[in-house]
Amino acid sequence: MAKVLVTGGTGYIGSHTVVELQKKGHEVVIVDNLSNSNIDVLNGIEKITGVYPLFENIDCVDYVGMDRMFEKHRDIDAIIHFAASKAVGESVEKPLMYYRNNLVSLINLLQLMPVHGVKSFVFSSSCTVYGQPDVLPVTEKTPIKPAMSPYGNTKQISEEIIYDTIHANPSYNGIILRYFNPIGAHPSAHIGELPIGTPNNLLPYITQTAMGLRSELKVFGDDYDTPDGSCIRDYINVVDLAKAHVVALKRLLNIKSKQQVEVYNIGTGKGLSVFEIIHTFEKVNNVKVPHTIVGRREGDIEQIWADASRANEILKWKAAESVEDTLKSAWKWEKALKKQRQQKEKEENEASSN
Ligand code: NAD
Ligand code: UD1
Repeated sequence: MAKVLVTGGTGYIGSHTVVELQKKGHEVVIVDNLSNSNIDVLNGIEKITGVYPLFENIDCVDYVGMDRMFEKHRDIDAIIHFAASKAVGESVEKPLMYYRNNLVSLINLLQLMPVHGVKSFVFSSSCTVYGQPDVLPVTEKTPIKPAMSPYGNTKQISEEIIYDTIHANPSYNGIILRYFNPIGAHPSAHIGELPIGTPNNLLPYITQTAMGLRSELKVFGDDYDTPDGSCIRDYINVVDLAKAHVVALKRLLNIKSKQQVEVYNIGTGKGLSVFEIIHTFEKVNNVKVPHTIVGRREGDIEQIWADASRANEILKWKAAESVEDTLKSAWKWEKALKKQRQQKEKEENEASSN
């Protein structure tokens, strides 16, 4: 069993990964500055696994703070690096914030690895690096296209930084996972996605609309060159995605050769349209999602889905959850959030009346 540093471990994908790591007996140290997550996530993790993870509220951009963290939690075997800012629109408005947060965090970790004897590194990349591919599905050999946003650019640059660093340092090994579109929540509904403010992504917008928190979902375009005119994506269950990190870690810890970086697409291999997602969500959860068709969203890609056969063959990983169960888990989570809100309101009312 390994001792694993999970940066961004209270975030959406990080928290689900912490659960899967703990379930396999790994010891986890989370570093998160809570810039896009809530400390209560740690309770949710404990409810599922029975283990309250070690947690440090540190900004990965803070080299000295991270150095001290490694001193305190000695003998870390591997790092899974999720911590990053991820809102595409915001990255266009605040590019330097994105380059600083996403790149300085990464550089700090890579610099600190040899100082503290850490040899294995797993990185969260994105299918955004492929842009609109000429041939579908995309394999890891599909050419990288110029980034459409500063956020996308940070992922491309990060991949290059990881290649160069591992090439120069024979004692590192790394795995880059290119995620497609993660959706859903843990089936227990103790953890899930916590979008702050108006969601940008499709699924949280759907669940909030079904809950009545938003009046209607806007479908961004029905005039694409796809069977029903809406965009197509490869929607991957977040628990399946979390499990990909556990097998990637296992591979890194067992690797005998040196100076290695491997890249894997993590998707289902199946593309679904926006309308297919809406209609399946409505059907499996027996709720309505009021929606209207509006113009295309700037920068949207028409269609993309993964060829994940490399991960299937080498990592022995395969997406297992059906889209139906995944969409049920997303709805169960939205209902759990409603209960949490109501409980909080009740407590606040009681406190103000005392
Ligand atoms: P998230 O925002 O839920 O989680 C990221 C976590 O990192 C948050 O808890 C945030 O507080 C923390 N964080 C951010 N900057 C930090 C810093 N400097 N120091 C410490 N903590 C910091 O996002 P997520 O959806 O879980 O994404 C995780 C990773 O996966 C990110 O790198 C993201 O770019 C990548 N990714 C996400 C998606 C997606 O659709 N969610 C797709 C592809 C890639
Ligand atoms: C977006 C980002 C991508 C990032 C990914 C994961 C953009 C252009 N791309 O990808 O860089 O890696 O999130 O965080 O922002 N949709 C609607 N109505 C909505 C929301 C979405 O119709 O209110 C449609 C979109 O047009 C798209 C699909 O739903 O076709 C999925 O959208 P989204 O969840 O935002 O993911 P991506 O666009 O794939």
